[in-house]
Amino acid sequence: MQGLKFYIETYGCQMNISDSAYLKDILINKGLRESDSLENADIIFVNTCSVRRSAEERLEGRLAYYSQIKKNNNLKIFVIGCYAQKEKDNIKKRFPAVDFVVGTRNITKISKIINAPLNEYIFTDMETPEYIEPSIDPFNKYRGFVSIIRGCSNFCSYCIVPYTRGPEYSLNSKKIIDDIKKLVDKGIKEVFLLGQNVNSYGLDTGDIKFYQLLEKINNIDGVKRIRFLTSHPKDFSNELIEAIASLDKVVKQVHLPLQSASDKVLSMMNRKYNYKHYFSIVENLRKRLPMISITTDILVGFPGEDEKDFLETYDAVKEIEFDKAFMFMYSPREGTASYNLEETLSIDEKKERLKKIIEIQNKITVEKLKRFIGTFSSVFIENINKKNNGVFGITDYGLNIILKDFNLQQGQITNVKIESLSGHTLIGKDIKL
Ligand code: 5AD
Ligand code: SF4
Repeated sequence: MQGLKFYIETYGCQMNISDSAYLKDILINKGLRESDSLENADIIFVNTCSVRRSAEERLEGRLAYYSQIKKNNNLKIFVIGCYAQKEKDNIKKRFPAVDFVVGTRNITKISKIINAPLNEYIFTDMETPEYIEPSIDPFNKYRGFVSIIRGCSNFCSYCIVPYTRGPEYSLNSKKIIDDIKKLVDKGIKEVFLLGQNVNSYGLDTGDIKFYQLLEKINNIDGVKRIRFLTSHPKDFSNELIEAIASLDKVVKQVHLPLQSASDKVLSMMNRKYNYKHYFSIVENLRKRLPMISITTDILVGFPGEDEKDFLETYDAVKEIEFDKAFMFMYSPREGTASYNLEETLSIDEKKERLKKIIEIQNKITVEKLKRFIGTFSSVFIENINKKNNGVFGITDYGLNIILKDFNLQQGQITNVKIESLSGHTLIGKDIKL
């Protein structure tokens, strides 16, 4: 195995990005090397997403392309992640060039699989929860990804994740703290906590609660920043609001998916909250932290969403004024509860609703960003901006900023005056300069 070159291609959510970072670590520890391109690799790993049909279609195109490349050499192809879990029995039938199918709870098996010739090629056991060691962001070596709770037991009626990632399980808090300390020794400054629903952390195991975990991480010397994703509105406690407000290292940003503001649709989605409750969380967050950045996910075109329901969501987007929203059109996923519901909207009607909501949110995003102009922020430096017009960083409200100071280095945390806005990106200046 020593010396073989691997290439990891990652689709989907932050959890996949973090799992790919972990995979990279285990492969490098085994003596493999990272390939600079797909075409030069001996082993390709494609870490996949199934959340919407469009994600799967893109993947299927890629798998066909890998199969082409494989005709000319000894390439080994691994399909891992949610699509691997969901389509386990079909992948090799459709793409015979694929060598191994490894599901979401079998990542730690990969080093064994590449070591020994095996008769098996599908590894999709869901029974045993895995401990995925925290890893370092491949794009910023000063950031550690820590998945604190894996899987999901919420069963929102449209969502495939509980089926592809299995029931939620929290990782032991003592181990998490020890592992973060190890990452700090390796130089990380920012801890990025991940989970499909971080608020549920510890509830399954009787461990400490999420806000207490934040307190403990905040006390670790060397950790300078803490971020986390994703929060579910059903169990967003006041203690958590207080922790976000009072803990100095916690970035003042919350990703709180709304999905819909119609109580009828929320109930059909099995979201377990109504709009009034959602709005009260937003109010409480803003009461405690007036500038807090609140981001969301919106899903339009759920079966049965009529014009009135859609307008409720549209009005809520205007009322709440999110800092940013990820907006999607409903995509039926086989095996989920809503799959059997008859779709009441045509593709064009769904597209039209999505377009409307994107248009209004884009305007709001710009307006909301303006409140930061003239303020000061600490900024965590990421890298030189792709268009080469400055250095890219993240503010203490979790927002993107470009600084015109090219001498700033990745991982530095610097104080900045925010001066203007370009598109959806703040522009600032290092105040030391
Ligand atoms: N169709 C469209 N969007 C979906 N999401 C989850 N499942 C679906 C689906 N079937 C969206 C939700 C979720 C985000 C990660 O993806 O908005 O919050
Ligand atoms: Fe899917 Fe709902 Fe779980 Fe999020 S909370 S992963 S939307 S089932």
